[in-house]
Amino acid sequence: MNVKKVPFSKEQIQKIIEKYPTPFHIYDEKAIRDNARKLYRAFSWVKGKNNEGFKNFFAVKACPNPYILKILKEEGMGTDCSSLPELMLSEKVGITGEEIMFSSNDTPNEEFVKAKQLGAIINLDDISFIERLEKTDGIPDLICFRYNPGPIKEGSEIIGNPVEAKYGLTREQIIEAYRIMKEKGVKRFGLHTMVVSNMSNINYLIDTAKMLFELIVEVHEKVGIEFEFVNLGGGVGIPYKPEDKPVDYDVFSKGVKKYYDKLIVGNKLDPIRVVMECGRAVTGPYGFLVMKVRHVTHKYRDFVGTDACSANLMRPLLYGAYHHITVLGKESQPCDHVYDVVGSLCENNDKLAIQRKLPKIEVGDILVQHDTGAHGHAMGFNYNGKLRSAELLLRPDGEILQIRRAETVDDYFSTLDFSGLKNFRG
Ligand SMILES: Cc1ncc(COP(=O)(O)O)c(C=O)c1O
Repeated sequence: MNVKKVPFSKEQIQKIIEKYPTPFHIYDEKAIRDNARKLYRAFSWVKGKNNEGFKNFFAVKACPNPYILKILKEEGMGTDCSSLPELMLSEKVGITGEEIMFSSNDTPNEEFVKAKQLGAIINLDDISFIERLEKTDGIPDLICFRYNPGPIKEGSEIIGNPVEAKYGLTREQIIEAYRIMKEKGVKRFGLHTMVVSNMSNINYLIDTAKMLFELIVEVHEKVGIEFEFVNLGGGVGIPYKPEDKPVDYDVFSKGVKKYYDKLIVGNKLDPIRVVMECGRAVTGPYGFLVMKVRHVTHKYRDFVGTDACSANLMRPLLYGAYHHITVLGKESQPCDHVYDVVGSLCENNDKLAIQRKLPKIEVGDILVQHDTGAHGHAMGFNYNGKLRSAELLLRPDGEILQIRRAETVDDYFSTLDFSGLKNFRG
């Protein structure tokens, strides 16, 4: 079994806590960079029409922090945006033009306008959006559609079954959509799908690529267009549990190449650039939620009450997700106690871990919850007046950089208007 490690010692964290009180998320820059390089090396065979290599458009929603985006930009990544603030965040980091893939759904017009203004690749989620796009800001030169394979692909617990999903175009719609775009004079095309979340079964991931390559062949035959790129989506899984295995990028890439050669090269449709939009696999394992134990209580169960709560990490509450916990300084002690690790929300589901085997916990212990680098801080919320935590960056030289300060009570109150309260009668 893997032992899940943290990239800092108890003494280091104690020093950090003196300056930045718990709870906070901390990200390991070196590990993020090493992993990004590994992904790019695995897909180094990819060559587009103008010799462009593989690209991952990092799903901003996973970790919308400008410092993280800048690190990823330096590693060759673009952004996958699905809202106006995400587009603006990319712009602020200097990620613009076709370095952005805009993959929204239920999209308001002003987002299409901003995406077009930035020169982003627009990925349409519905056939009716063709008309909307035409009316709002005109059809861009390059267009992409999100494919929903419906019954031919199983989804996953987090993202749902494709047949029930609100996303994407059906097979019939997508062929029609490309035909319409061809008639409207579009010459540059991409194809996208996103059918799964946290998937570690490599065969499933490879099969998604095969499905897209087959669709490209079909659209080419039926509509007579050529594709510039294919976006395999995100959804690559990470090993949350100690016994989980990470996705081997080399094996995954080899499988994708096999079908690329057979279907794309074999049908003389190459070169087509292969891209992805992973979030979780890029930053997930390299983020940690650090918290302190406030109370240990004994009722029908034993509870560890921490200064973090589900507002800092919603995944356990939302999906029953497992996030491993390391008790700093007690790594070699036996896990011979069973606890529910909870926060202070007035909500019984506010549990960061349920019936977790841990060493004996005492007040003041520092707990580190693993794999919070994606969909962690980002999914935070203010319910019960909980304030969003800080985000810190562990630099490769060991320095600590605060990349987002903790929210204050003033921040929390900033959207409330108290000026009319005095004369207000309910
Ligand atoms: C359209 C789209 N792309 C990419 C992602 C990123 O998924 P993951 O972080 O699991 O790779 C998501 C996640 O919600 C998504 O909705």
